[in-house]
Amino acid sequence: ADSTVYQASTTAPVNIAVVKYWGKRDPKLNLPTNSSLSVTLSQSDLRTHTTAACSSTFGSDDSLLLNGSPQDVSGARTQACFRELRSLRAALEAADPSLPKLSTLTLKIVSENNFPTAAGLASSAAGFAALVRAIADLYQLPATKTELSKIARQGSGSACRSLFGGYVAWDMGSAADGSDSQAVEIAPASHWPNMRALILVASAEKKGVSSTAGMQTTVATSELFQRRAEIVVPKHMEQMIKAVKDKDFELFGKVTMMESNSFHATCLDTFPPIFYLNDTSRAAIRVVEAINEKAGKIIAAYTFDAGPNCVIYFEEEHMAEVAGAIKSVLGSVEGWEGKGEEVKTSDAAHL
Ligand code: PMV
Repeated sequence: ADSTVYQASTTAPVNIAVVKYWGKRDPKLNLPTNSSLSVTLSQSDLRTHTTAACSSTFGSDDSLLLNGSPQDVSGARTQACFRELRSLRAALEAADPSLPKLSTLTLKIVSENNFPTAAGLASSAAGFAALVRAIADLYQLPATKTELSKIARQGSGSACRSLFGGYVAWDMGSAADGSDSQAVEIAPASHWPNMRALILVASAEKKGVSSTAGMQTTVATSELFQRRAEIVVPKHMEQMIKAVKDKDFELFGKVTMMESNSFHATCLDTFPPIFYLNDTSRAAIRVVEAINEKAGKIIAAYTFDAGPNCVIYFEEEHMAEVAGAIKSVLGSVEGWEGKGEEVKTSDAAHL
């Protein structure tokens, strides 16, 4: 019998949404209630490295080790990713009987994040993107990034956007089976090479309400959410795509901030309310406002996901004004750790 250990390794970067995904129209397939758009961060800064292996010597249970700790792979989302990738491999094997039958072998996945998983920095996005890409490489699937994005989406919605570098849209699609709910590249990172992101990690450790639970309650109870999904987000998507194409930072920044505010407003309008922003987050918002006021235009933009951590986008030429103000003001504000780390956006070159 074949006792070979087959394996493949890859990395996937973190992405931070500037038009937010919040709400599922189909929780099983992770189909969203609105489209979204993100900026992928540089692989050298925040990323997941994943090795996928399979062998007849691995016993009967698929396994996943994250930063050295065994994870539960029996959940529907991980199972959906394994199932879809195995069936694509099985189709290749059926078409070419000379291929080794990897689709029937036990999978062993080993992942490492180079950033704190608990800090709520979109770890599931990089995690599922790397998992899907590593298994697709192991199985030598001819699938495109957009095709793989539909599988990663079933692991974690935002993961579909981490298959690409640069500026990435997730089209919500309209098909009931999710066949058109996928990620597409709007522009590579090289299109806007002076874009920078500053990540401020608040010392608060774990997110209070998971994104899945939060979204479900928002969809079920918030009336503001209806307006957001139907009117606000479609407008923001259009403006954001234009801002990226034109490299118009003022528009990019304005939409980024209004989007974050709109998302957190629907969280507050959820019943019972969800509070992701805290006093520390609000201090960061005020610093960005002061920076823009002093500059007389928008040169910095804040955004927050399902937690208090802040990401500030700006252009390289404003580094001194932006980073300087953040460090001098927030350095003395209780709750901020590390006073921010600058991260470049870049192409996910080897994805
Ligand atoms: O992919 P999830 O289920 O962890 O949801 C992510 C939700 C936000 O980060 C708040 C927004 C987004 O589009 O990434």
